[in-house]
Amino acid sequence: MALSVSERLLCCLVLSVWSTSTSIQAVPRLAPYDVDRAKVSVSGVSSGACMATQYHVVYSREIMGAGIIAGAPFMCSGGLAATALGTCMTTPSMISVPALEAITTSGALFGNVDATYHMRNDRVFIFGGTRDSVVNPVASQKVAQYYHHYMTSSHIKAVLNINAEHGMPTLNYGGACAQLNSKTYLNNCNYSVAFQLLNHIYGGLQAPHSKTQANGQLLHFNQADFFHLALPSAYSMDSVGYIYVPSGCADKQHKCKLHVAFHGCKMGRVFVGEEYVRHAGYNEVGDLNNIIILYPQVISTLTNPQGCWDWFGYTGSLFATNKGFQLTAVRRMVSRVLGSSSSVLG
Ligand SMILES: *[C@@H]1O[C@H](CO)[C@@H](O)[C@H](O)[C@H]1NC(C)=O
Repeated sequence: MALSVSERLLCCLVLSVWSTSTSIQAVPRLAPYDVDRAKVSVSGVSSGACMATQYHVVYSREIMGAGIIAGAPFMCSGGLAATALGTCMTTPSMISVPALEAITTSGALFGNVDATYHMRNDRVFIFGGTRDSVVNPVASQKVAQYYHHYMTSSHIKAVLNINAEHGMPTLNYGGACAQLNSKTYLNNCNYSVAFQLLNHIYGGLQAPHSKTQANGQLLHFNQADFFHLALPSAYSMDSVGYIYVPSGCADKQHKCKLHVAFHGCKMGRVFVGEEYVRHAGYNEVGDLNNIIILYPQVISTLTNPQGCWDWFGYTGSLFATNKGFQLTAVRRMVSRVLGSSSSVLG
């Protein structure tokens, strides 16, 4: 049977639509696990550190600790890219922490941010490398100063004396610790910042050593599930995210903990593949201690060419509130993992 040109075109069109939709369907749904909802924490590096502190402050009622690696305090940018690059990253001695506290207070007053007393008993770990040429480590001192206003002082630990360049310090993976490794931003520092921050947050964890393998499952999932009105790319988010499930959490024999790890600029899947989600150091710690690691992913767009998390307002002025598009999407992911009904959270 000979097909006419238009029939052949239709055929190809149908085939390509079919293959596109099956490739989308091939990315699995994020599944729920047995997680203690009082044991949810966040961390991140660089723009991911700023996102982690945003998530922590905005949803402090649901978060018990945060790790802030080479980041800046909550709302440092005031929603301006120029302030992010200037004051926050380059001349952080000029950051006015009382002004950021005032913004936080009014955010809580208007219901855009959880009441700040929920932070009182949380635990925060702060890291700034002495050699950081991208985010001046004085910004990390400002993060500590900000948190001291809200938290029990003994719950804040700041490590500011390691000769690390900008990036994620690891036990034994990546480029030289004191050099800028602009391919992956993973720095081999003989120092697992992932372990240090998780151990500070949860306490009493078993430490990985250089031979520890991550024996659980690294799964990818469909992030489009967590956007109701548009594709994730409308908010500079990837269609795919990752979750690391330790074997002790896959069989649901243990109550597990949940940690959300935010990658830095140019460290998402579209830039580095699976380098960060495999080698940042979280998975080994998760395996040894039954901590599930959620790795939401962002992409680059015209307004966000470096693929950073939104800590300077490129998704709109509500980016650092409980109406922010990225924050609400990640919170829906967390709720799914916790097994909460999505209708509760909207
Ligand atoms: C790594 O650090 C540990 C201490 O935490 C030290 O005992 C060891 O010698 C260091 N290894 C290297 C290769 O520097």
